[in-house]
This record gives sequence, structure tokens and C-alpha cells, in this order.
Amino acid sequence: MAASALYVSIPAFKLIKLCLIVIACLIGTSSAQLQPDFYDERCPKALEIIKKAVEDAVHQERRMGASLLRLHFHDCFVQASLGCDASVLLDDTPNFTGEKNSFPNANSLRGFEIIDGIKSELESTCEGAISCADILAVAARDAVVALGGPRWKVLLGRRDSTTASLAESNSDLPAPFLDLSGLITAFAKKNFTAEEMVTLSGAHTIGEVRCSLFRARIYNESNIDPEFAEKMQARCPFEGDDDNLSPLDSRTPLRFDNEYFRNLMQQKGLIHSDQQLFDNNGSASTNSQVFKYSKDSGNFKKDFADAMFKMSMLTPLTGSDGEIRKNCRVVNPPTTTVS
Ligand code: HEM
Ligand SMILES: *[C@@H]1O[C@H](CO)[C@@H](O)[C@H](O)[C@H]1NC(C)=O
Ligand SMILES: *[C@@H]1O[C@H](CO)[C@@H](O)[C@H](O)[C@H]1NC(C)=O
Ligand SMILES: *[C@@H]1O[C@H](CO)[C@@H](O)[C@H](O)[C@H]1NC(C)=O
Ligand SMILES: *[C@@H]1O[C@H](CO)[C@@H](O)[C@H](O)[C@H]1NC(C)=O
Repeated sequence: MAASALYVSIPAFKLIKLCLIVIACLIGTSSAQLQPDFYDERCPKALEIIKKAVEDAVHQERRMGASLLRLHFHDCFVQASLGCDASVLLDDTPNFTGEKNSFPNANSLRGFEIIDGIKSELESTCEGAISCADILAVAARDAVVALGGPRWKVLLGRRDSTTASLAESNSDLPAPFLDLSGLITAFAKKNFTAEEMVTLSGAHTIGEVRCSLFRARIYNESNIDPEFAEKMQARCPFEGDDDNLSPLDSRTPLRFDNEYFRNLMQQKGLIHSDQQLFDNNGSASTNSQVFKYSKDSGNFKKDFADAMFKMSMLTPLTGSDGEIRKNCRVVNPPTTTVS
């Protein structure tokens, strides 16, 4: 009944147009995959614009490269069924709960303004064409390259979610106080092997961490170089200054290299979870991989590129699923385009 009522009120040519759209959408949903050249015709300058903006941001503040890499990670690991969906970018409002206030993200994630800047430049160049999820994926890659790290291919055509999950952000992002088995489990949940977990942890060759998250390690743990512990204690008092920052890789915090793994072999991993990957008595199953990467930065960088490619492919929204947000911080308002 409802269908026939609809019939009479829509002129035939509009109906044909509607049918074509519906068919296109069906094809789109059933066969859509990420593609290397997704924006070549839609927005030929898109990748160039993102790269330039990331290079400028990293030039202004090198730590921003680390922050942009972490944004992509925290995006892809939450809402597993939707993958890298820009859920991490959605702001909290009175009627929407985002992921920004989860334990791992609150007072910690940064780089949102850089993404906003890229988005608005892309909107003025190619309105409505580039998803926030693709921006995050490309920006993370370009940020690593800008800091001297490896390049990986980023396939394109991700779409943005209309949902976020505070609960999954709390449960699925690994915590710095996890032991090796907990780290392996957290990554296995996203189909990463223990080896890939070690590889991806190498991201901590750049960026910074707050005192509150490594205090227990530098005051209470025994598998730590004593001089290193003392040096870090000077930057992170037993009480107070919770937000004081220290580099995760104290040697070359602003360069994407393999020094992180050399630190671990000297018991100079700053957070508990990092040092879990290597111990001096040879009992950690991941010791040999840490040793291998400490000797061969090319090997680490190649593996890192492969693992990041895999992360960027976590169950993306494609075709007509999700949407392309106009503003990365908010879900598009409902449209009323029945004309
Ligand atoms: C293995 C499990 C991991 C744990 C437990 C972990 C934990 C952490 C913690 C606690 C911080 C500091 C946050 C703060 O002080 O507010 C941090 C920073 C960071 N993490 Fe991880 N992380 C892990 C894996 C990863 C992965 C897979 C990546 C990326 C591929 C990554 C990239 C980063 C970066 C780049 C920073 C520095 C961010 C900045 O300086 O803004 N982490 N991580
Ligand atoms: C949610 O609240 C904002 C204002 O905070 C409002 O603009 C928006 O329309 C609301 N969205 C929904 C779906 O109710
Ligand atoms: C992991 O692999 C299983 C089996 O192939 C699949 O059902 C699941 O969706 C994958 N999980 C993620 C997060 O990709
Ligand atoms: C170190 O361990 C002791 C005893 O378990 C505990 O009371 C103290 O709070 C811990 N200190 C830190 C900084 O975690
Ligand atoms: C090896 O070292 C780790 C970290 O210091 C410690 O937790 C573990 O108990 C040690 N294992 C053996 C067998 O000594």
C-alpha cells in the first residue's frame, strides 16, 4: 500500500533516476573495496594537499608526526567491525558520546586541529569528496615519512562512521601496564600476530608519554637500567606533575628509527608494556625479534610498513555504507533531499 502511494506521487523520470541510484548503490555496496586511485578523478590534488599539510605541521612541531600516527591507530582499533572509520574524531555533545574521553585518549590524543585544517582545505577544493578516515590514514603515513620512517601504500575509499564507542575505546586500546601476554591478546583481537605487535610497538620510537603512566615503572620495577631510572625520576616526581612529558625513545625521540629496540635491550624502555618485549634473562618470547630489529633498522622499517598497511585495512566502511562527513568532529545532519 505504502509503495503504491509513493508510486503515484513521483513522476516517471524521477522514478527511473531513483532506480538507477539504487542500482548503483547496490553495486557499490556489494563490490566496493579500497582502491589505490580512488581520488584520481574525484579529487586529483587530495593526496598532495594532505602531504603538504602534514609536512608543514611536522616542520612546525616534530612531535605532531607522532601524534598523527597515534590518531590513526586509535581510530582503527576501536569499533572493530567498522575499522578505520574516523570514530576517534567525533566530539562529545550532550546527545552524543564519542571516544575522546576514554582512558587512553583523554588528555592525551592530539592533532585534531591539523586534521580539521586538512579537511577544510579539502572541502574547499573538492566538496564532499574525501572522508575523514582516509585523511587519517594518509596523514599517519605521511607523518612517519616526514620523520624519516618508511612509506607504505594507502588504499583509499574508506567512509566515515556515524557512531563511536567509548566502551570499546576503553577495552580495545592496549594499556601501558599490560604484561606481554596481555599485549599479545589485545593485538590478536584485531588479528595481529605477536610478531606484528612487536613491530607496531616500534611506533614508540617517536612521541612522548606522561609521567603518571610510567611512574610505577621508574620507582618500582627492577628490570630497568638504574641510571636511566634515576634520570627519569628527575623528570617525574614520586608525587605530582602527572602530566610532565618525557620521550618514549630517549635517544632520538623525533626520528623514526630503530633506537627504540636498542633501548629495550638496555632496559631503557620507559613504559612497562614496552619493556615487556625484552628481558635480560631471555625468557620473553619476543626477545629475538627485538634483538633482530636493534641490529637491522631496514628490517624493522619494512615490517613496520607492512603492519601499518594491514592496520589501515581493518574492515573499512566502503561503497554506500557510512558517510563522508562534512566536518570530521560531527556526524552529518540528517538530509531531507526528497525533491
Ligand atoms: C603495544 C601496545 C601499546 C601501548 C600499551 C601503548 C601505549 C601508549 C601510551 C601509554 C602512550 C602515551 C600516552 C600519554 O602519555 O598520554 C603512547 C604514545 C604513543 N603511541 Fe602507543 N601504545 C601501544 C601501541 C602503539 C601503536 C601500535 C602505535 C602506532 C602504530 C602507537 C603509537 C604511539 C605514538 C606515536 C605515541 C606518542 C604520541 C604523541 O607523542 O603524541 N602506540 N602509547
Ligand atoms: C545533538 O545536539 C546538538 C546540539 O548539542 C544538535 O545540534 C543536534 O541537532 C543534536 N542531534 C541530534 C541527532 O539530536
Ligand atoms: C579477524 O578475522 C576473523 C576471521 O577471518 C574475522 O571474522 C574478523 O572480522 C577479523 N577481525 C578484524 C578486526 O578484522
Ligand atoms: C610502588 O610499590 C609500593 C608497594 O607495592 C606501592 O605502595 C607504591 O605506591 C608504588 N609506587 C608507585 C609509584 O607505583
Ligand atoms: C626474567 O625477567 C623478568 C623481568 O625482569 C622477570 O619478571 C622474570 O621473573 C624473570 N624470569 C626468570 C626465569 O628469571
